[in-house]
Amino acid sequence: MVQIGEVDRVKITALVVDDAGYDTELWGEFGLSLLVEAERQGTELRLLVDTGLTSEPLLHNMKLLDVDPSKIEYIFLTHCHYDHTGGLGGVTEKTRKGVKIVAHPEIFRRCYVVRQNMKYIGVPERSSRSTVEANGGSWLLSREPFAFIPGVMTTGEIQRVTSYEPLENVHIEMDEEMVQDPELDDVSLIVNVAGRGLVIISGCSHAGIVNIMKQAKRITGVEEIIGVIGGFHLRVANEEQLSKTVDELDAAETVCAGHCTGFEAMKSISDRMGERFTLLQCGTVIEFAADEG
Ligand SMILES: [Fe+2]
Ligand SMILES: [Fe+2]
Repeated sequence: MVQIGEVDRVKITALVVDDAGYDTELWGEFGLSLLVEAERQGTELRLLVDTGLTSEPLLHNMKLLDVDPSKIEYIFLTHCHYDHTGGLGGVTEKTRKGVKIVAHPEIFRRCYVVRQNMKYIGVPERSSRSTVEANGGSWLLSREPFAFIPGVMTTGEIQRVTSYEPLENVHIEMDEEMVQDPELDDVSLIVNVAGRGLVIISGCSHAGIVNIMKQAKRITGVEEIIGVIGGFHLRVANEEQLSKTVDELDAAETVCAGHCTGFEAMKSISDRMGERFTLLQCGTVIEFAADEG
């Protein structure tokens, strides 16, 4: 177990996601990018979680939402997929020199989805290791939980413990053969709000959102989860996975989902949670503050 520490407040803003929202100047795009601003004893952390598919919508929306890229201290990549890492090359042209990029060490592996032909779905060339370094970014690669400030850390590599969250049909090349990709680089963010509990922020939840929630509780020793935000990748989930996942999510005060979550899953969560469920759209803001009492 690790001592996670606590923050006084956290604000999560959806900078880019598939759903632009209604009557908005913001641009939607397949993928995800969130801004996490956490405050602890008067000091602030500004952390970009994922970078969307391309940097144009991200930079456009940042301008409209009054987010200054040069004030971002860290970029955390939840996993390698192109819809989360494609904007990295472009956004690091605007972030400060020395911005740190936190990810799992297997983030650069060659991974594919195999349909009629093989489609590469990993980190695109425009966001390559060397491009990002040339832009002034430095990589912090770790399998272990990484602490940004007390109260904000990554889950580290997720232990798969549930029986109903299967590996996906995606592949990597190993010894000249295509084998199933265990997607070990799928890592999420944990924020511990003083006196309240944990907020989990996930990219695509390829490790299974229930596995992720269980890991967050196990490694921090904090039992309460107050918020779960991100993509839950339940588009092809069977009934067992769906109902067990909704049971787990229902324990949170707030769930905010979109991107790869899937319509059926969103409907099930919404039916169960009512107003405690929010759609993840461009510009959506979710905030949690410490219990004053
Ligand atoms: Fe993904
Ligand atoms: Fe995704």
